[in-house]
Amino acid sequence: MKLFLAASMFVAVAALVAGPARADDPIVIKFSHVVAPDTPKGKGADKFKELAEKYTNGKVRIEVYPNSQLYKDKEEVEALQLGAVQMLAPSLAKFGPLGAKEFEVFDLPYIVPDKAALRRVTDGALGKSLFQKLESKGITGLAYWDNGFKIMSANKPLRLPADFQGLKMRIQSSKVLEAQFKALGAQPQVMAFSDVYQAMQTGVVDGSENTPSNMWSQKHFEVQKYATLSNHGYIGYAVIVNKKFWDGLPADIRSQLDKAMVEATAYANDLSQKENDDALAAMKASGKITFIELTPEQTAAWRKALEPVATEMTARIGKETIDAFRQATAGGN
Ligand code: LMR
Repeated sequence: MKLFLAASMFVAVAALVAGPARADDPIVIKFSHVVAPDTPKGKGADKFKELAEKYTNGKVRIEVYPNSQLYKDKEEVEALQLGAVQMLAPSLAKFGPLGAKEFEVFDLPYIVPDKAALRRVTDGALGKSLFQKLESKGITGLAYWDNGFKIMSANKPLRLPADFQGLKMRIQSSKVLEAQFKALGAQPQVMAFSDVYQAMQTGVVDGSENTPSNMWSQKHFEVQKYATLSNHGYIGYAVIVNKKFWDGLPADIRSQLDKAMVEATAYANDLSQKENDDALAAMKASGKITFIELTPEQTAAWRKALEPVATEMTARIGKETIDAFRQATAGGN
């Protein structure tokens, strides 16, 4: 992968050596992401492309690269910082390894009560202050996009915390998700999103957590026997750009792109629920995986087992961030 990064940088440098772009050449924005086009993030990216090209009258060309075509997970953030791509929408879990640990608040089990409450975080003071933490890393945050709530899949039924004992569960690279699975007695394994299907197929992992739209579009349901509709956590994204690139854009172009982003965000967040509902229905109809609904008692047992995670992670995420999150979701700001 490092090789690929080096190759991309070489191409970027070679382009510079080849001479300055002609004045009427469009500004190219490479928008790389790891999910399928037919997902909330994939559709959001495509909508942004459509609107951005329209509002700038073709002065900007957006090249969308889905499905980890260019980079896997954390490598895509490095590529953005290096300027090999200009725009990404990594899941919020992926900012911890960058040193922006406060973002891991979104990964705490059961911390997001519903989307309306979440919106008060992302549209409010906390959402803004989280984006400010990215500036020193050469990144500008533009918008928060939803995927949805996570369900838990494995090759055995997961009804109670004891069912997780010893299972190898794939996680994104987040200390909170690591603590979550340890609290359940499982063995968390960090793995890039694009490697999960094969790891499930070959038994490298026993299971994972993800949203229905990701499980459907990556075909996880074909290689997992059960999924529990636990909705125990949330996956969302921060749409980010290379700060130097963004600040260097002509102001009129940037304002048209901002407008396109506002509209693409509304579009993506409006369709995310339906995308996940449809994905769940499609997986049910496939007959390849059995879905489990938890009883209120079982949900209570999951909540109890996962309760210590927030306390354990307070020093890492920061008490202020967790308190601000809870206050905003409870209705304050
Ligand atoms: C994952 O890595 O499991 C997902 O969050 C990927 C994504 O971008 O939705």
